[in-house]
Amino acid sequence: MPILPPTSPRPVSAPEQVRDLARLRQVTARWRAEGQRIGLVPTMGALHEGHLALVRHAGTLCDKVVVSIFVNPLQFAPHEDFDRYPRREDADAALLSDAGADVVWLPTADLMYPKGFATHIGLTGPAEGLETDFRPQFFGGVATVVTKLFNQTGPDIAVFGEKDYQQLKVIQTFARDLDMPIDVIGLPTVREADGLALSSRNAYLSAEERATAAKLHAELTAIAETVRAGGDAEASVERARIRLEAAGFGPVDYIVLRDADTLAPPSADSRALRLLAAAWLGKTRLIDNIAV
Ligand code: PAJ
Repeated sequence: MPILPPTSPRPVSAPEQVRDLARLRQVTARWRAEGQRIGLVPTMGALHEGHLALVRHAGTLCDKVVVSIFVNPLQFAPHEDFDRYPRREDADAALLSDAGADVVWLPTADLMYPKGFATHIGLTGPAEGLETDFRPQFFGGVATVVTKLFNQTGPDIAVFGEKDYQQLKVIQTFARDLDMPIDVIGLPTVREADGLALSSRNAYLSAEERATAAKLHAELTAIAETVRAGGDAEASVERARIRLEAAGFGPVDYIVLRDADTLAPPSADSRALRLLAAAWLGKTRLIDNIAV
């Protein structure tokens, strides 16, 4: 489907902060009635340049951009970092003014999951393995909240980052399978100068861990080069795992080469490959991935 250019210029004013679903529906219904295309960028806040790149890109594809900020309890296990996940509403609002968002959608957990909430989405295919082996609740929680955000906003386009590559594939798959009339777009990972993928969770890293953290991307790059040169992928992954553990990572949850479309193990039919990894550094779990 061709992407049409926006029909009006980007706003210069601060985005409206909306906390009430009726108001969100009123604003988006008016936009739709005016024939404006709507882009949605779902986030959990603590915004960084990676998020802002998605917001700016949505602004080039659509007339109006909604950014949601919601730390979704459903995608965290009880022992995970839901309580300490960084929350920076004021700083986020300032960043979104500059990035050209029209509305910041700030639902509460009670609004999203009122008493009696009883619906969950079943996922297979790209949701199997990788993150699911370590965070079995994760994609069910993501699929539920993203479906709700889609239904609340009614976007033409939704923009996600390749930083969370498996998440992107899961969302593209359920949007297609459930006939959601939304173009789900993935954008490349924004990185620090040393290669570390920007992440809200990088705020957890000590100075020493921050210096080590970029090794994850460096090792993925080294493996990808070996694979491209026709070398032994498995041996290369094993060497990377050993070097990461020697550098202070541990445990390394996974480093795997997958079919870039299906996330199944590579086969003769694979058109492209993706290398995906997750590893702990102290109390912080880092994930990253690159094209091969
Ligand atoms: P969050 O981690 O806040 O990420 C929001 C969006 O920003 C996701 O699409 C993610 O892939 C993208 N993103 C994060 N870091 C990035 C980077 N360095 N470069 C490019 N894009 C990046 O992912 C979530 O929130 C949640 O699971 C959510 C989809 C909002 C559902 O709760």
